[in-house]
Amino acid sequence: MRMVDVIQKKRNGLELNEEEIKFFVTGYTNGDIPDYQASALTMAIYFKGMTEKETATLTQAMVDSGETIDLSGIEGHIVDKHSTGGVGDKVTFIVGPLVASVGVPVAKMSGRGLGHTGGTLDKLEAIKNFHIEMTKEEFINNVNTHKLAVAGQTGNLAPADKKLYALRDVTATVDSIPLIAGSIMSKKLASGADSIVLDVKTGSGAFMKTLEDSEALAREMVNIGKNLGRNTVAVISDMNQPLGYEVGNANEIKEAAEILQGKNVEDLRKLSLEIASHMTVLAEVFSDYNEAYETLEKNLENGKAFEAFRNFIGAQGGDTAMIDDLDKLPQSKYHVEVTAEEDGYVSAIDAESIGVAAMYLGAGRATKDDTINHAVGITLKKKIGDQVKTGEPLVVLNSDEENPTDSITKVKEAYTITKETITAPTLIHKVIN
Ligand code: URA
Repeated sequence: MRMVDVIQKKRNGLELNEEEIKFFVTGYTNGDIPDYQASALTMAIYFKGMTEKETATLTQAMVDSGETIDLSGIEGHIVDKHSTGGVGDKVTFIVGPLVASVGVPVAKMSGRGLGHTGGTLDKLEAIKNFHIEMTKEEFINNVNTHKLAVAGQTGNLAPADKKLYALRDVTATVDSIPLIAGSIMSKKLASGADSIVLDVKTGSGAFMKTLEDSEALAREMVNIGKNLGRNTVAVISDMNQPLGYEVGNANEIKEAAEILQGKNVEDLRKLSLEIASHMTVLAEVFSDYNEAYETLEKNLENGKAFEAFRNFIGAQGGDTAMIDDLDKLPQSKYHVEVTAEEDGYVSAIDAESIGVAAMYLGAGRATKDDTINHAVGITLKKKIGDQVKTGEPLVVLNSDEENPTDSITKVKEAYTITKETITAPTLIHKVIN
C-alpha cells in the first residue's frame, strides 16, 4: 500500500477502509510515514470529513497503537467521566464521591493543567500530602475499597494520538470534528472504563463555541463509544462563564467540598447531579434517571457523598483535616477586590480571560514546566444576570502579590456590564445518547 494513494482517496472524498486507516496509524506512529504525508491526510480529512465507520476505525487504531489499562481487577461496572475542558470545572470532585457513594467504582486517570484551564491533579494537590503516584495494585485496591481513586496518566496510552495531535496543532487541523472525537475517545477507551459520560462544554469559554459544533462533537463521540462497545452518554453544558464561583486550586477544592457538605451553588450542583445520574444509570445501579437523581441528591444532604470524598482523600495520603476545616486549605496573602465601574447587569463573563487571570496569579501554568501556587485563585462575586452597582466587587483575587495588575486588567476585560436586565444562560443544553 502507498500512503500517497490513501491521501488521494480521502482528498477525492471517498471512504477509507480499515486496512488503509490502520496502515496510516501504524506507519505514522512507528515513523515509516513522514509528517508531510500525515499532514496532507489530516488536511484532506479536515475538508472531506470521515464517516462514522471511518472515525470508529481511526479511534480503535489509535487505541491499538499503545498500551491499554487493564481494570479487570476492579469489582463492578466502571464508569468514567470526561470533560472537554472549561474554567472552574471542579465537577469531578463532586461526581466521583457521589457515584462512589452508591457503590459504583470510579477509576480516574487525570491530567495537569496548561494555559487557562486547570488540571484535576493540580487541584487535588492543594490538599497537603495528597499523592497521585500509586502502583497499579494500590490503584485497583483503592478503587475496590473506597470506590474512587485518581491517578496521573501512566503508560503509553494512544501514542498515535499524541503524535498526531502535535502535528495537527501546527498544521491548522485541530478543529476537525472526527479528529477531535477520535483523539479524545482513543485516550478514554485506552483507560479501560466500561461506560463513559462526556461533559461537552459549549460557549465562549469552551473549545467548541457554538451549540451546533458542540452537538456534532458530542454525537460523534457517542457514536464512537457505541461502535467500539462502550455505552456513552454526552451532556452538553454551558461554558459561557466559569462554572460555580471559584477558580484556582485550593479555591476549587473548597467549593467542591462545600457542595459535598450540602451547600447549593446552583449550576455546579445541578451539573454534578446530572452527570452522576447518567453514570449510575449506565452502571445499572438505577433503572432510570429520576431515581438516580433523587438518591444522589439525598447523598449530598445526608453526608454520604462527603464521606466518600474524605475516604478517597485520606486513602491517597491527603490531610483530611483540611477537608473537615476548609480554612486550613492553602491561603493567599492578599484578597484584592476588582470592582464594577458602572451600574447595570452582568451580561458576559469571558471564562477564558478569567482562566488567564488566574494563571497570571500563579494558579496555572503558562508553560509545561511552570510550578503552581495552590493558594491563589479567583472568587467570583457576580455571575451573568446579576445586578451590580458601581464600586461593588465583581471578583476577589486571592493573590500573593499586593497589586496583581495583569490579573486585574484581565478580569476587567472579562466582564461586560449592560443597562438591560439579562437572563442567566441555560446550563444543560442537551443530552445525547
Ligand atoms: N483535546 C484532545 O484531546 N484532542 C483534540 O483533538 C482536541 C482536544
